[in-house]
Amino acid sequence: MILEIDENHHDYILRAAQAIRNGRLVAMPTETVYGLAANAFDKKAVAGIFALKGRPQDNPLIVHVDSVPMAKNLAEFDEKAERRAEKFWPGPLTMVLKSRGAVPDGVTAGLDTVGIRMPDCDVALALISAAGVPLAAPSANKSGSPSPTSAAHVASDFGEDLLILDAGECNVGVESTVVDMTRETPIILRPGAVTQDMLEEVIGPVECARAFSPMEEGRPAAPGMKYRHYAPAASMVVVEGDTASVAEAIKYLYDKDLKKGEKPLVMAAKEHKRFYGRRDVAVTGSIEDLRGVAKSLYALLRDADAAGYTSILFEAVPKEGIGFAVMNRVYKAAAYNIVRV
Ligand code: TXA
Ligand code: MG
Repeated sequence: MILEIDENHHDYILRAAQAIRNGRLVAMPTETVYGLAANAFDKKAVAGIFALKGRPQDNPLIVHVDSVPMAKNLAEFDEKAERRAEKFWPGPLTMVLKSRGAVPDGVTAGLDTVGIRMPDCDVALALISAAGVPLAAPSANKSGSPSPTSAAHVASDFGEDLLILDAGECNVGVESTVVDMTRETPIILRPGAVTQDMLEEVIGPVECARAFSPMEEGRPAAPGMKYRHYAPAASMVVVEGDTASVAEAIKYLYDKDLKKGEKPLVMAAKEHKRFYGRRDVAVTGSIEDLRGVAKSLYALLRDADAAGYTSILFEAVPKEGIGFAVMNRVYKAAAYNIVRV
């Protein structure tokens, strides 16, 4: 059931909070993507998340809190964590911290750490407060498919038996930055809207795990990074290089795909649309506004599938600011099918 939230619908939040307390799952909006939420202390409900998503058991969940005190009950906060929380919460930053053992193993996949964030979304915060417990919530998509940035995306993956709080389109559009704070030098495990530069401004040096390579050294830095992710059903190729050569390569690949009987789609910035003539183009946004590209990325991938496209040719955006996170997701969606020209 989709419950549309506006200012007059706080009873919907109370209803969802009651469902959480009764051990049920609720899809909630956040500023990044929609989450599939359960009471983080309820082992059975947490197991239900893994079952519904088809999520591998060794991939831990992020716990969502409504305040720093709630987070401090779950994990050990040192001074750096404290300063980051002050600066970036509520917001798209997940901190991996030493667990105090309050959340069950099902949430942390048996690790001695726990990933925590305070979302910058009034509906999510109100839900956590009303439920009175922290909420374990992965993105509310079937494992492997693009994350949902609208209630309709959630419903298309899970149907409408699920209680879905609909607060419209997510503002950020890509998942939170995940930073492992338990290391001497903190390390970004998953890039997001909070960038390395932004983090370093607050507490000094931060490393970044290899964001653009399928080959992690040894064990994947974040357990979730080893699975094929964010992928549309269509095959996908990323083309990167100088603007003119990228357009030439994409046109060549498009026409080749068309001859093979594929239904190709170009994804390109609005400034470059004219290069592609009468070919089908979905505009990713503007090269001047990578936040806009992040916001529309997952919807574009889902829409391409829905419209029956079988091949996506994606024009890379600069790996600057949030573009770094966008390209991290795009590479994964394309299963590292990259053409450099
Ligand atoms: O923006 C977001 O983070 C969204 C919204 C719903 O909050 N959630 C989300 O959750 O993206 P999920 O489950 O799709 O991704 C969680 C990521 C995974 O890569 C997981 O491996 C990592 O965070 N993670 C969680 N706990 C961890 C831990 N203790 N140590 C290392 N990585 C962890
Ligand atoms: Mg996810």
